[in-house]
Amino acid sequence: MTVEIRHVAADAVRPLRHAVLRQGAPLAESVYPVDDLPDTVHLGALDDGAVIGTATFFPEPYEGRAAWRLRGMAVAEERRGAGVGSLMLDEAVAEVRQNEADLLWCNARTVALPFYSRRGFTIVGEEFLVAHGVPHYLAVLKMTPNQA
Ligand SMILES: CC(C)(COP(=O)(O)OP(=O)(O)OC[C@H]1O[C@@H](n2cnc3c(N)ncnc32)[C@H](O)[C@@H]1OP(=O)(O)O)[C@@H](O)C(=O)NCCC(=O)NCCS
Repeated sequence: MTVEIRHVAADAVRPLRHAVLRQGAPLAESVYPVDDLPDTVHLGALDDGAVIGTATFFPEPYEGRAAWRLRGMAVAEERRGAGVGSLMLDEAVAEVRQNEADLLWCNARTVALPFYSRRGFTIVGEEFLVAHGVPHYLAVLKMTPNQA
């Protein structure tokens, strides 16, 4: 696989984010309020310059404690199941640890729960519905902060 994970601009992640997570909805739903904040990181999985995967993470407390939140995890349909999502998640976890944080959380789609739970996330509480009635669970990854 010749996929590179890079920091990219918000504009670069929005088309795939929209196509995978909000297809048919207004484009504005794929603009997150945090997209242009200075600490927000957008990852692009790039194959020969084409964005085939996206992930966004940013500081957002979890139950009153310092944490980072993961949003907009999306891999192009024809490229799923080949490790691209894992590469992006590994990079996000490494960068969150570099920021001396020890908690990453997300609202995980119920269909994607195996992806998160196999990668160490704990699924918390009851299922809930977000935009357009898509079922989700809260998923939380506790990690060891980087002491370096
Ligand atoms: C969830 C998602 C980001 C994961 O990315 P990915 O590149 O498919 O993930 P990976 O290939 O690293 O791992 C997927 C796992 O599912 C398995 N898998 C097999 N076929 C698959 C397929 N067609 N689609 C997804 N996963 C598949 C993989 O083998 C792997 O298994 P493992 O957990 O035992 O390692 C991606 O599938 C996706 O964009 N789904 C649609 C949007 C979505 O639900 N996003 C999450 C919002 S919370």
